[in-house]
Amino acid sequence: MEKAENPFADPGLPPHEHRIQDIDERAAKRSERTVALLFVVSMLATVGFIAAYVAIPVDKVVYIWPIGLTSALNFSLGLTLGVALFCIGAGAVHWARTLMSDEEVADERHPIEAEPEVKTKVLADFADGAKESGFGRRKLIRNTMFGALALVPLSGVVLLRDLGPLPENKLRTTGWKRGIRLVNQSTNLPLRPEDIAVGSLTFAKPEGLEEDDHDFNNKIAKDALMLVRLQPQDIKDKRELEWSHEGIVAFSKICTHVGCPVSLYEQQTHHVLCPCHQSTFDLADGARVIFGPAGHALPQLNITVKDGFLEAASGFEEPVGPSFWERG
Ligand code: FES
Repeated sequence: MEKAENPFADPGLPPHEHRIQDIDERAAKRSERTVALLFVVSMLATVGFIAAYVAIPVDKVVYIWPIGLTSALNFSLGLTLGVALFCIGAGAVHWARTLMSDEEVADERHPIEAEPEVKTKVLADFADGAKESGFGRRKLIRNTMFGALALVPLSGVVLLRDLGPLPENKLRTTGWKRGIRLVNQSTNLPLRPEDIAVGSLTFAKPEGLEEDDHDFNNKIAKDALMLVRLQPQDIKDKRELEWSHEGIVAFSKICTHVGCPVSLYEQQTHHVLCPCHQSTFDLADGARVIFGPAGHALPQLNITVKDGFLEAASGFEEPVGPSFWERG
């Protein structure tokens, strides 16, 4: 029987077309300089990244069209790092497209496990490819590429500075100390005992801490306080009772897990819940943890009354907020 003709015969490779760089050494040199220029721009951008990181203040704001007002530091870091990475990529692509060999090669399918002679051939092809890429011959490209690749990781290294410095004593101190009045965080008015309603949380801050304070966010992150009125006979913890006033107790509002503001209060059980990971604290029992990942009870502020207003009888006796390694 006559063999049927294959309707999908392999058309073979199209004839190879030489690029201008393959036949004109001056064009090849121009491409080489373009690639090198891109790598040099990448190096300059990395240096610019480090300079911006060191020189631009964190709070400096600039107008950038069309974004509007934005952080000068973030904009500069993003721009310089973007340029550094883009130029490395563009340089590599331009090098591959214009100078590396573009001879079309057809390779037949073969079993997955290579024969020893195939492996030898692959290694030889690899060596040929490296030779044809001009990697060894085009020293300008090779050296600038190494320079760009060596410099760009420095951008990540300088960012490590943001891990420090260690907080040292800052986690142990707050704005609360003896004689500081409790001020309603919403109305900004000093709190009297009669302002603390049964069944709800009242949020307070130290008198003198104003929202236009340049460091307000950092301070309120440690000073935020919540007050609740309990029946004195419901308070199980002896120290909590001593530090309360007519059943009014004051605890740090900052969750001891990872620092979310604790805010959901359940009047019947005296439980307060952190919405982030559901740590639950018993406000009638020293705000000890009864559920969830928090590692410590909420710190209590010793309060008293003077001239009819609530005030701190002392500062916090333990660090507020997450259970950092400094805690004993
Ligand atoms: S931050 Fe409160 S439970 Fe995680």
